[in-house]
Amino acid sequence: MANSGVDKSRRRFLIAATSVVGAAGAAAIATPFLASWSPSARALAAGAPVEVSVGKVEPGQLLRVIWRGKPVWIVNRTKEMLDSLPGLAERLKDPNSDNIKQQPEYAKNMFRTRKGKEQYLVLVGICTHLGCSPTYRPELAPADLGADWKGGWYCPCHGSRFDLAGRVFKNVPAGANLEVPPYYFKSDSTILIGENGGKA
Ligand code: FES
Repeated sequence: MANSGVDKSRRRFLIAATSVVGAAGAAAIATPFLASWSPSARALAAGAPVEVSVGKVEPGQLLRVIWRGKPVWIVNRTKEMLDSLPGLAERLKDPNSDNIKQQPEYAKNMFRTRKGKEQYLVLVGICTHLGCSPTYRPELAPADLGADWKGGWYCPCHGSRFDLAGRVFKNVPAGANLEVPPYYFKSDSTILIGENGGKA
């Protein structure tokens, strides 16, 4: 599956990079090799951008990757999901993304995305209340979330709710929308997370 593939290969790379760096003191003979690899391992840990192929993410599916040690979600939203967003404004704390800390300028809109690629939502998967990881709940009106639930995220720690653009609902402990990280499309189906691509 695309999800686990991305997660696993990155994890393997991180583990491999960590063990190579860890062996530096013991194996002097390997120094030339280490010299070429250590900077990229450090850069990765410090927050090098992450390239993600989204071509195989099905409509409605969520892909998880790690960037700067944080979970980042990419959701390929369906037309129905996008159509549910305008009607929610009255129930949200910050429907127009006025809190400028929570997204780059190009994502300050109802969809919280770059123009022309509204179906792909990119979010940092950390609750803005106390940092738990909210659960993706894309289904319509499940029994535990109520008849007016149109899909989004539910935080199991203290019950905060976010819509399918990561916008926080009123009357929950979280105060801000989920964060949109910097990103841009390198191609139609490739996203680079961590950079604005010169067009912020
Ligand atoms: S950490 Fe998510 S609601 Fe408290």
